[in-house]
Amino acid sequence: MLEARRVLRGERVLLRPLASTDLRRCVKWFSDPQIIRFLGRDAPVTLAEEERWFRDYERRTDEQIFAIEVEGQHVGNLGLHKIDRVHRKAEVGIVIGEPSFWSHGYGTEAMRVVLRYGFDVLGLNKISLDVLEYNTRALRTYERLGFQREGVHREDIYKDGRFVNVMRMSILARELREGPAA
Ligand SMILES: CC(C)(COP(=O)(O)OP(=O)(O)OC[C@H]1O[C@@H](n2cnc3c(N)ncnc32)[C@H](O)[C@@H]1OP(=O)(O)O)[C@@H](O)C(=O)NCCC(=O)NCCS
Repeated sequence: MLEARRVLRGERVLLRPLASTDLRRCVKWFSDPQIIRFLGRDAPVTLAEEERWFRDYERRTDEQIFAIEVEGQHVGNLGLHKIDRVHRKAEVGIVIGEPSFWSHGYGTEAMRVVLRYGFDVLGLNKISLDVLEYNTRALRTYERLGFQREGVHREDIYKDGRFVNVMRMSILARELREGPAA
């Protein structure tokens, strides 16, 4: 799909299509307890699993995954999933896999670029996400962009020996806030 080959640019971030050569780095991130702590899944992934997933992903048209680059360094991924052209909606997920790049405004900027792409280019009306209730940095990031809380999936995830609530959030095309990250 042509759209999936797009490069999107923000002021400081560049979003390019995820490539198979990125997968080794992704496996490192998704095996890091500091990162897994904030994600719905728990088990570390293997390179073989990741490569299988990528082959399947390349054949699909309802998903677009971007590599987030800052000054030429691949620091995370951002994906639009379950792109639904009938109801004009999708889900979004973001991981900055290099913790030294957290809290510098890159996540907010990358999300804003992809939301604008989803709304303006793909013509979506609504983009949703799930976030663990204790992930306060992510919640703040999403709320600053204009995401609204839709509700809570109670004790939806079992993590580190306890059940965790998962917040469902969404943003409509007319709700995206422009302006600086902070
Ligand atoms: C959640 C995540 C995507 C947020 O991205 P981020 O780049 O860290 O977030 P931002 O920097 O845009 O915003 C967070 C903070 O940076 C501050 N900030 C924003 N712009 C800034 C800038 N230009 N310079 C410095 N700080 C800035 C914000 O004020 C905010 O501060 P606060 O948390 O004290 O309120 C990222 O931290 C991450 O990937 N975490 C691990 C995985 C994860 O949680 N994924 C989401 C699962 S739902």
